[in-house]
Amino acid sequence: MTDTLSSSDLAKRASALKAAEFVESGMKVGLGTGSTAAFLVRRLGERMREEGLRIVGVPTSAQTARLAREEGIEVATLEETGRLDICIDGADEADPRLNLIKGGGGALLWEKIVATAADRVVVIADAGKRVPVLGAFPLPVEVIPFGLSSTRRLIEEAIAGLDVDGRRVELRLRDGQPFVTDEGNRILDLHLGRIGDPLALALRLNQIPGVVENGLFLGIADTLVIGHADGRAEVV
Ligand code: 5RP
Repeated sequence: MTDTLSSSDLAKRASALKAAEFVESGMKVGLGTGSTAAFLVRRLGERMREEGLRIVGVPTSAQTARLAREEGIEVATLEETGRLDICIDGADEADPRLNLIKGGGGALLWEKIVATAADRVVVIADAGKRVPVLGAFPLPVEVIPFGLSSTRRLIEEAIAGLDVDGRRVELRLRDGQPFVTDEGNRILDLHLGRIGDPLALALRLNQIPGVVENGLFLGIADTLVIGHADGRAEVV
C-alpha cells in the first residue's frame, strides 16, 4: 500500500495516524471528510480490530458514513450523541492562527456543525495546506438552489467591497452537472486569491439570503497536525 501512495498521500496519512492517537475508548468522535480524513477513519477501524477501541462516530458526510460503517465503527447522528469529545477533519488551507478554508469536498456544512459541537477540534493536513494568508484555495460557499443566480449576484456585489484580490465566482460542477451537497444544495467557489479580512468576509457572506454556510472556519480549530511524506507529524 505504502509503495503506491504519492508523497502528498504519505503526508496526509502521517497526520491522520498521529491524530488517531488522540482518540480514546468511550469517546464520541466527529469524523471528517476527504482523503486525509479517510486515512483517519481507516486507522480508527484498525485500532478497533487490533486493540478493542470502542467509539461512536458522527460522520460529516454520507461518504464518510459509508466508510465508517465499512470499518465497523458505530455511526450515530449528532442528535443522538449530543456534544462530542473530539472532531478530526482535514482542511484545504490553514493559516498561522488556525483559521481554515474547508469544503473542497463539498461537505463544509455538516463539517462546521459537527466541529462546533466538539470539545476539541483537530485538523489533519499535509504541509502544503499551511499558508500565511487564506484565499489561494477557492472559498466554497453552500447555497440553496432556489434563486441561485440572484444569490450569486449578491455574493459578487458583497466581495467587490471587501479586501480580496480576486472576484470570480464559479458554480461547482461534477461530471458536467451542478455539484449537489448532502443537503441537496449547490456550491459556489469564490476565487479570491487572498482574503485580507476573513471574519468580515464570513459575516458578510452569511448575511446573504440563500447562503447556507461558507467554508471559512474561524476560531474553530484547536490543534493542527501537519504530516510529512517521511512519516513524521508535527502537532501545532
Ligand atoms: C471536505 C473538506 C476536506 O477536509 C478538505 O477538502 C481536504 O480534503 P483532502 O483531505 O482530500 O485534501 O473540507 O469538504
